[in-house]
Amino acid sequence: MRAALFDRYGGPEVVRITEVPRPEPGRNDVLVQVRAAAVTSADARIRGARFPRGFGAPARLAFGVRRPRRRVLGSAFSGVVAAVGPAVEALSVGDEVAGMAGMRMGAHAELLVVPAARAVRKPAAVSHEDAAGVLFGGTTALHYLREKATVGPGTTVLVNGASGAVGTCAVQLGKLRGAVVTAVTSRPNAALVTSLGADDVIDHTVTDLSSSAGRYDVVLDTVGNLTIDSGRRLLAPGGRLLLPVATLGQALRARGDVAAGSSRERADDVAHLLRLVEDGQLRVVLDKVVGLDDIADVHRRVDSGRKVGNAIVCP
Ligand SMILES: NC(=O)c1ccc[n+]([C@@H]2O[C@H](COP(=O)([O-])OP(=O)(O)OC[C@H]3O[C@@H](n4cnc5c(N)ncnc54)[C@H](OP(=O)(O)O)[C@@H]3O)[C@@H](O)[C@H]2O)c1
Repeated sequence: MRAALFDRYGGPEVVRITEVPRPEPGRNDVLVQVRAAAVTSADARIRGARFPRGFGAPARLAFGVRRPRRRVLGSAFSGVVAAVGPAVEALSVGDEVAGMAGMRMGAHAELLVVPAARAVRKPAAVSHEDAAGVLFGGTTALHYLREKATVGPGTTVLVNGASGAVGTCAVQLGKLRGAVVTAVTSRPNAALVTSLGADDVIDHTVTDLSSSAGRYDVVLDTVGNLTIDSGRRLLAPGGRLLLPVATLGQALRARGDVAAGSSRERADDVAHLLRLVEDGQLRVVLDKVVGLDDIADVHRRVDSGRKVGNAIVCP
C-alpha cells in the first residue's frame, strides 16, 4: 500500500510517498481503507520536532529520540472497514467508520490498523472529509470547554485563534452551550468566524490582545501567545484561562483558574461530534483537500500558521 512516510524530523520535504507492507489487524483491531485523514498542527509539530517550550525532550522520548519511531503520521481518519480481527464483533467489512488513531498514528496511508474500540460508525450523511476534519479540533474544544471549564448560557468566552482547527469548533461548541463568544482572528477570517456564530470579532493584527480591555469568563488560547499573567488579565472575576498550547513551565503552574494539558481522544466524543455534524449543528471548515501525492503542500500550509479550519488528505 502507499503511505506518506517521514524518516527524519524536518520541514515538509521530509514527507515522501512510498510503498510499505500492508498492515494486518490484530485480534481486536480493524483494518480501515482510509478515505480522508486530517493533516493537523500536531502532525506538523511531530514532523518538525517542534514542541512547546520545555516539551522537546519528553516528546522526543515519546516519538523517537534521533529519528521518528512511527514513520506514518496522521491520527484523525475516516474510511471503510476492509478487514476485522477475529475478536471484533461490533464492526464488519464495508462499515464506514471514523476515529482517532492516537499515538500509533498511521492515518496518512491507504490502509490503517486501529483498535476496533477507536473506530466509530460514521453517519452516512457525513462526508469522509468532514468526519476526518471535525475530530482533532472538536475533541480538543470539547475537552477544554466541557471538562476544563463550565460554559453555559450567558458565559462569555474568548477564543484566541478562532479560525484554526480547534478555534472553529470552539466557537461553535461555545455557541451551542449558549455562550457569548468573542473570536480573535485576522480580518480575512472575520466573516467566517461570524458565520460560525461569533458575537464579536477582535482583529489580532490591529488589537494587541494582551492589552485589550475586555474581560471574559473563559479565555481559550489556541495560539500560544498569551502568558499566564497576560491571560489572567483578560479574565472576569471567577474566570478560567485555558492553555492547550502551554509551555512546560506554564503546564506545571496550571492550577486553580488556569488549565492546560493534553486533550483526550474518546470514542463517545467522536460519536457526539459526528452526530452534531450530521444534525447540521456543527460545521466543519475545510482548508485544503488533496490526494496523498500532494501531502507535503498541506504540511506547508499547516506550517504557515494561516490554515483555516482543517486540512485533509484523501489517500
Ligand atoms: N493540548 C492539546 O491537547 C492540544 C490539542 C490540539 C491542538 N493543540 C494545539 O493547539 C494549537 C492550535 O491548533 P490548531 O490545529 O487549531 O491550529 P491551526 O489550525 O494551525 O491554527 C491556524 C489559525 O491560527 C490563526 N492565528 C495565527 N496567529 C494568530 C494570532 N496571533 N491570533 C489569532 N489567531 C491566529 C490563523 O488565523 P489568521 O490567519 O486569521 O491569523 C489560522 O487560521 C496548536 O499549537 C496545537 O498544537 C493542543
